[in-house]
Amino acid sequence: MDVIEPVAWTDDGGGLRILDQRLLPLHETYRELRTVGDVCDAISTLAIRGAPLIGITGAMGLTLAARTPPAQHPLENVVDAAERIRATRPTAVNLGWALGRMLGVAHAAVASGHDLHACLIREADEIRAEDVAMCRRIGELGAELIADGARVLTHCNTGALATGGIGTALAAIYVATEQGKRVEVFADETRPLLQGSRLTAWELRRAGIPVTVLVDGAVASLFRADKIDLCIVGADRIAANGDVANKIGTLSVATIAGYFGRPFYVAAPSSTFDSSTACGERIHIEQRSAEEVTNAFGVVTAPAGVAVYNPAFDVTPAALVSAIVSDRGIHRAPYDFSQQRQ
Ligand code: MRU
Repeated sequence: MDVIEPVAWTDDGGGLRILDQRLLPLHETYRELRTVGDVCDAISTLAIRGAPLIGITGAMGLTLAARTPPAQHPLENVVDAAERIRATRPTAVNLGWALGRMLGVAHAAVASGHDLHACLIREADEIRAEDVAMCRRIGELGAELIADGARVLTHCNTGALATGGIGTALAAIYVATEQGKRVEVFADETRPLLQGSRLTAWELRRAGIPVTVLVDGAVASLFRADKIDLCIVGADRIAANGDVANKIGTLSVATIAGYFGRPFYVAAPSSTFDSSTACGERIHIEQRSAEEVTNAFGVVTAPAGVAVYNPAFDVTPAALVSAIVSDRGIHRAPYDFSQQRQ
């Protein structure tokens, strides 16, 4: 499988080169981000997306602020830019976590007289390298949950397009396949922005893994037809009690899996655990624009002026989660995440 690199440094090192995910699967188009404004725009419009990947992109993007005029106040530029980037998407904890790490390095660099820009580049590279390793480990552990011949339902996109490495939930599928297991994947569309049908199906087909796309409303009938052995999804934030915020529709999948007695697994790196948030009710859920629902990809899909409910994420209670796979192990209730990062 050729490597997908959703974000990289530009050749001249003065910016970021991203794969514009809004245009997939039709166009594989790369764009350059040269300013913090470009980075904020790319994250908020979901040109770049997925909890671990927005953390990595935020960290890489913050380096641009260290060189933005007025250069005599580079630390203030960096602090201000971190706030702007953090505000783009509030639910995935990975973004604030990565920016917090970068700010710690920025303050230390200035206090010790080291080159601010060079220190930030090194830390962003470190965050990305750690994510690559965490994805691989999640894949190895998650693959233990997938038997030969398994039929697996996933939601949204949790693969190479959403991380620095091979993914989280999709990593388990990739590694199981590498191990010679036959895995059949079902990817629901994931309305309104179709990360399942546009991105997950694109990634899996590139990897030669059989994938079937279905509309979100067909999930229950798929279980009723006895076509699913297990579900595995990613996460944007995992609270201390094991409640999981993830792409809108995850709660429906978990509820249906529970009704039909099938396991519902969550896969996420240490950077997605938030021990400072006690439970799911405390998680800030991003609300997105009405147009995503009423004007799907330029096509009018609802009458003008209709009221719209468009949360980007929902919270699945820990009770519906069979196990959480992280790079540190396979966790089951009652959860003890003390080995996690935060
Ligand atoms: O709005 P998105 O596309 O950024 O949402 C992504 C998800 O909800 C993913 O499931 C989650 O970030 C995990 S990605 C490994």
